Amino acid sequence: MKALVYHGPGSKAWEDVPEPTLQDPTDAIVRMETTTICGTDLHILKGDVAAVTDGRVLGHEGVGVVTEVGPDCTRVAVGDRVIVSCISKCGTCDYCRAGLPSHCQTLGGIGWVFGHLIDGTQAEYVRVPFADNGLIPLPAGVSAEQGTMLSDILPTGYEIGVRYGQVAQGDVVAVVGAGPIGLAAIMTAAPSGASRTIAVDGNAFRLAQAKDFGATDTIDISATDDVVGELKRLSRDGLGVDVAIEAVGVPATFATCLDSIRPGGRVANVGVHGVPVSFPIERDWINNITITTGLVNATTAPQLLDKISAGEIDPAKFVTHRFSFDEVLEAYDTFANAADRQALKVVMTKE
Ligand SMILES: NC(=O)c1ccc[n+]([C@@H]2O[C@H](COP(=O)([O-])OP(=O)(O)OC[C@H]3O[C@@H](n4cnc5c(N)ncnc54)[C@H](O)[C@@H]3O)[C@@H](O)[C@H]2O)c1
Ligand SMILES: [Zn+2]
Ligand SMILES: [Zn+2]
Repeated sequence: MKALVYHGPGSKAWEDVPEPTLQDPTDAIVRMETTTICGTDLHILKGDVAAVTDGRVLGHEGVGVVTEVGPDCTRVAVGDRVIVSCISKCGTCDYCRAGLPSHCQTLGGIGWVFGHLIDGTQAEYVRVPFADNGLIPLPAGVSAEQGTMLSDILPTGYEIGVRYGQVAQGDVVAVVGAGPIGLAAIMTAAPSGASRTIAVDGNAFRLAQAKDFGATDTIDISATDDVVGELKRLSRDGLGVDVAIEAVGVPATFATCLDSIRPGGRVANVGVHGVPVSFPIERDWINNITITTGLVNATTAPQLLDKISAGEIDPAKFVTHRFSFDEVLEAYDTFANAADRQALKVVMTKE
């Protein structure tokens, strides 16, 4: 079969590899129908994720059809059309039982294994460990593209942004960074009660998208030198926003979030940070604020499926570019230059 194989920093190829086979009785094999590329795949290709070694098939998102199941699979069956969750889980360790499969101990303390510790979904077939837990049946009426957005991107913005930020009825929410992750938070903020959702970015295309995804207001960082002041002016009483969701991953945006929340407010950090960030506890110890962090658990996919079926949200909006599997290198090129190409999510579909 063909798969997108990592060959060390800066090197990848769409090449022939052996088809995966069942290894454990709880495994299933899925024939991939639709897959996509995540910002994390770009980090891997830069060499930022040391655990990913030469020969690894990349990808942790997508929809496909189950072609084989191990003898211990009871919920998934051959022929099921399924969403492959980016987080695998044993379902029985303390972390899985506590709703934190992102730290599944049976999988070595990390539930993100596809395209990381085992071969991933940018391939014609993928082996899925603990398939009963990691495969979500795709309901009739939900498209493969919509389902693919539930593997990772939409749960990440919803869980680590909106839910960890405890967005409640009437809240004013700032989302700093309107890339796919910020847009996922924006899409799910209003259905969670936000009365006002303010998108902050410097990219005109993404700010326009933010409006389409549900932002009530936008702030263009290239048009103001007082983002914090603007956010406060848009808050209920000038004291600051209730929740600020950090969806970039640099010190400046974390500071924007911290500076713009009101006393009692929440900062939900989603961005992956690569350098130290300062926290002015000498200022904020008195402010009763909450800061949360986290890796997606993807446990809200069923809830998000309900919102899609009810017509409350439509994650197909993320898909700006479509390719066949054979065009995966072109898809990577487009996604790596997302800002210039006006790309959000690029999707590859098996022809
Ligand atoms: N916690 C998790 O589980 C998790 C999962 C996936 C991704 N992430 C992280 O979330 C972050 C966002 O991911 P993405 O795919 O949307 O990234 P992206 O690079 O596509 O989007 C980031 C956006 O931030 C904007 N931006 C840059 N500097 C800014 C600034 N100073 N102020 C406001 N906006 C600014 C950019 O214009 C861009 O639109 C990344 O750090 C990513 O690694 C975290
Ligand atoms: Zn991802
Ligand atoms: Zn577990």
